Amino acid sequence: MAKIKKTARLPYETEPGVVHAENTLSTLRYDDVYHIHHVGRVKEVVRQSNYRFRFLTDGDVRLQIEVWGDNLIRFFYTYGRDVADFSYARDPEAQPQSAHVTCHQEAEGYFIDTASVSVRVDMVDAAVSISDRASGKEIHRYATPFYARTTLMKGLDQMRLQVKTAAEESFYGLGDKAWDTDLRGRCFENWNSDSFAYGRERDALYRTVPFYYGLREDHAYGIFLDNTYRTHFDFNSSGDGITTLWSDGGQFDYYFINGPQLDQVASRYARLTGLPELPPLWALGYHQCRWSYFPEARVKEVADTFRKKKIPCDALYLDIDYMDEYRCFTWDKEHFPDPKGMISELKADGFHTVVMIDPGIRVDEDYPVYVDGASKDVFCRRSTGEQMVGPVWPPECVWPDYTNPRVRDWWGQLYQELYVEHGVSGFWNDMNEPAMFKVNALTFPPDVRHDYDGLTGDHRKAHNIYGMQMARATHEGLRKLQPEKRPFLLARANFSGGQRYASLWTGDNIASWEHLALANRQCLRLAISGYSFVGTDIGGFVDDPTPELLTRWLQLAVFHPLMRVHSMGNNTDGAAEAEAAQVQEAEATNRQDQEPWVHGGQHTDHNRRAIELRYRLLPYLYTAFDRHIATGIPVLRNLFFYDQQDPQCRKYGDQFMAGEDLLVCPVTEPNLKSLTVYLPRGRWYSFWTGKTFTGGRTLRVRIRPDRLPIFVRAGAVIPTINAVQHTGEATQLDSLHLTAYLDDSGSGSFYWDAGEGYGYQNDQYLRRSYVLRREGKTITLEQSGEGAYTSRIQRARIRLVGFDSVPSQVEVDGERQPGAVQVHRQTANLVVPFDFRKITIS
Ligand code: NOJ
Repeated sequence: MAKIKKTARLPYETEPGVVHAENTLSTLRYDDVYHIHHVGRVKEVVRQSNYRFRFLTDGDVRLQIEVWGDNLIRFFYTYGRDVADFSYARDPEAQPQSAHVTCHQEAEGYFIDTASVSVRVDMVDAAVSISDRASGKEIHRYATPFYARTTLMKGLDQMRLQVKTAAEESFYGLGDKAWDTDLRGRCFENWNSDSFAYGRERDALYRTVPFYYGLREDHAYGIFLDNTYRTHFDFNSSGDGITTLWSDGGQFDYYFINGPQLDQVASRYARLTGLPELPPLWALGYHQCRWSYFPEARVKEVADTFRKKKIPCDALYLDIDYMDEYRCFTWDKEHFPDPKGMISELKADGFHTVVMIDPGIRVDEDYPVYVDGASKDVFCRRSTGEQMVGPVWPPECVWPDYTNPRVRDWWGQLYQELYVEHGVSGFWNDMNEPAMFKVNALTFPPDVRHDYDGLTGDHRKAHNIYGMQMARATHEGLRKLQPEKRPFLLARANFSGGQRYASLWTGDNIASWEHLALANRQCLRLAISGYSFVGTDIGGFVDDPTPELLTRWLQLAVFHPLMRVHSMGNNTDGAAEAEAAQVQEAEATNRQDQEPWVHGGQHTDHNRRAIELRYRLLPYLYTAFDRHIATGIPVLRNLFFYDQQDPQCRKYGDQFMAGEDLLVCPVTEPNLKSLTVYLPRGRWYSFWTGKTFTGGRTLRVRIRPDRLPIFVRAGAVIPTINAVQHTGEATQLDSLHLTAYLDDSGSGSFYWDAGEGYGYQNDQYLRRSYVLRREGKTITLEQSGEGAYTSRIQRARIRLVGFDSVPSQVEVDGERQPGAVQVHRQTANLVVPFDFRKITIS
């Protein structure tokens, strides 16, 4: 039943002060009046299908529970008119899976059981609790009944869920937050925001991923709130043992994902919201960016310097200044008289060109994109019907409504000239929150209308998915324009599920040591929130890094899937007019270049070494991506994903696993001579020296300027290649290195394909598995494989690290090979045909 509260302030108001101000008139009037609506008492439960339950109650809020799998339960709360069951976040392929569902009713509660969980709904107020059936532990229990709040002035303005927080519960995920690893104790807001020079204190960043993990002792679960409005997640900030989630509107559609393992939750969330395609191999190479490289001669100079200095690089970026006065899809002909020629010259030298495209379209009657868009009515309109016009780089812009499928199609074909005719390899969608200059809101007013795929809505509803739909329009357009190519798209704003369309970078960070630590945390948090293809502006966007900071950032970013240096440069020219004073001030102090050679001498050598390591590890990273798209297990994971029962792993939450086997320890302080790292259970090898360590303990390691501490899981078999200057050379190599880190048993894998195109979705790939065994003095390494891709690789260069005997006999595929093994410093080396089946050394 609706209850009316007239004067008391309710918790979780989002705009304190605007409501409940009593006026002085003698008649009782208020700025606004709340109505609170509950689900109410359960009168009947209708099982609509094997998996769907509708609760008939005496309140105004409706509840539907759906079993999407034994471990995945959906709670769908609605208020008001019936709403369509529609989601931008969910993968269109995601459907309820068959699960063994039983249900029964008792006097006090209604029970739905699957093989994994037992859900109880209290008859008296529809409060929910969920227990894990294997352990019997209660994982999810409402602290208060669910409510919807309406106000006279705003209509539905809040849907709220409160669940109990356990004494020892940690919270992870939530996409992009520049905060500590554990989110407990703070309240977060999700609202895509242009966040120039953001800091730790800044909450809402560029993207929204309303999904988090709870870890209670050793049991992990996930909550995904599929709601596109501004949402808020309060992880027990007032210490009252309650976690509160609320949205500023819309339906409250949330999924409970049972673990008990963090990896399982990650994988189930990824299957629900979708997995990306395999990136083109070049996109995993090193990228060099700056605001902005121009004219053409400067671009070529940068390219030549990479090759001359033998620093590997695959991609060069053109920021907004390549355009003709910020008109998207045009070129500044003075600076770039022959884009096609320049791009093909760069390509011949192994460089891919990536260019920026913004959503803000200049209002200009002589600009075909504007004229065509206006005639086709593709731009967003205010509730009054007039076009939404505002300043970004051009003083007056209009923005396509990407929530309209017709507009997405229109947008996609605009890339034709750049992508097909000029040969641009990839695109960079910036400012798609959408960002608007000059106003404190940083974006559109709430009344702007959106199509929302035919369901219609205002900007409060569409804001958080605007950037995602731009990325989708671009991705789908590129797929149509060149179906044989894997699109590479880098997008700033996004939403849950947007990993299907684009990679992302963490926006306008700062060249500081604190930001280096944040950069790592952000990449890890994004990776465990469904976005594995992530990176940061290496070296910092605002301000200039010291030589040491740039080197440490590059060393860390070897393991961040998108490895791109970007800096703000000095852009007072023209652009400044449109920008805030803060931006102009930053430009004044930010004049230095940020290429890997900029500091010269040994700094250049260290930077080259870091980038070369990235190229050596390409097969390992590509293999990790192959696993990611098959399983949803993130490419990067905090240490506690490796062992969630070990509290020390949570304490060292900034250390991480890159892929399955490499443990990386970031160095995020200047002049560090030594560092305490934690090695979890098992045995570990130093990646650099081959020395072994028993896990389950801390270790004080000496820090060298030219590398980070990296450890390898004993038993791992790691595929690498020789460093090359670009990935075009990588696919031509005839040798693969396989380094086995000896243990009693072990395993590894190697994935490879053409590096481009979709042949891999048929049989044009190679997937090799390795099994390692040691029995007494006998070591065997077996290989099995699948896929029909014919690579150029002829040889496998095998290294067995931790080899501490003298080999007397070597057999490759049953044939004795006397003298084939060379042993040096406890490492046995031998070269065998790439297609070997079994190597035995005793
Ligand atoms: C803002 C982006 O975050 C930044 O990376 C870019 O350089 C500028 N816009 C200019 O396009």
